[in-house]
Amino acid sequence: MAHRIVTLPGDGIGPEIMAPAVDLLSRLGEFELQEHPFGGASIDLYGTALTGETLAACRSADAVLLAAVGGPKWDSTDPGAPRPEQGLFGVREGLGLFANLRPVRPLPALYDASPLRRERIEGTDLLVVRELIGGIYFGERTRTADAASDLCTYTRAEIERIARVAFEAASSRVASVDKANVMETSRLWREVVSEVHAREFAHIELEHVLVDNAAMQLVSQPTRFEVILTENLFGDILSDEAAMLTGSIGMLPSASLGGDGPGLFEPVHGSAPDIAGQGAANPLAMFLSVALMLRHGLSLEDEAAAVESAVDGALAAGLRTRDLGGEAGTAEATRAVLDRLG
Ligand code: IPM
Ligand code: MG
Repeated sequence: MAHRIVTLPGDGIGPEIMAPAVDLLSRLGEFELQEHPFGGASIDLYGTALTGETLAACRSADAVLLAAVGGPKWDSTDPGAPRPEQGLFGVREGLGLFANLRPVRPLPALYDASPLRRERIEGTDLLVVRELIGGIYFGERTRTADAASDLCTYTRAEIERIARVAFEAASSRVASVDKANVMETSRLWREVVSEVHAREFAHIELEHVLVDNAAMQLVSQPTRFEVILTENLFGDILSDEAAMLTGSIGMLPSASLGGDGPGLFEPVHGSAPDIAGQGAANPLAMFLSVALMLRHGLSLEDEAAAVESAVDGALAAGLRTRDLGGEAGTAEATRAVLDRLG
């Protein structure tokens, strides 16, 4: 039976990179695709970023592929206005996807595209494991004319389950990143991560790193990290920073897992409204997200590896989109990768 995939193109460059991803899938096998409006596009149609129908469709799919959401059209400081990002949070939470995996592996062909010197990034191969449905993203918010607050909460159970994902993904070491010198949630985080480690994963090396220091080390010595385990907000920030090790945020895919239903696969970058509609978007993070979907969502390892090696091959042969300092547009980049699929 064909795998059923819900596609959520979203906004900005989202539809422009989803179309090539659909082409890519059609080269790889039989997939049953069902597209739904999402984010700002869904707000325009239905007044909400995620309808019950779309969430139900996601729940009954084998995997969900998402491009990007948001744009100036829906930016508002009015706390009551619907926001495209609510769709993202709704689908992450609605599917129970607490574990967001963001692999960062600069390709040799792109060493010189990174703003960091080649010697710094050579050999970097790390994984950011970001807790995705807790913390300040999901806490209570208040707002008056003169004051606002966002509540950050973590429970022991939420920390335990994400810590296990990180330790299981590591072959030798985990750096747990927190702000335990300031935040109570971080002190609980540190305590629980240490307990899970001692009880179940003593063969893995664990270190605790304060987030400001982690941000510094990520650019000064990225090769010292293997798995970075962290909470929702720190993971958001550190993964954008880590993306630059690969030359561009246009290169980084992500997988969100952990529920009992389908996983969600999406590039780390956003909807880039500034370049939307120009055919200039880099589709590679989207292609690499398709690869993660094939591997982790559909257990199609051979197809996943084929996509990754087609992307590597295209870059090695000189493909450079604008974000990587070249001239190639979306269509050209797509062709360069699809031609290598054989
Ligand atoms: C990400 C994005 C989202 C997040 C935004 C669009 C709300 O930055 O997936 O990293 O902060 O989680
Ligand atoms: Mg982010």
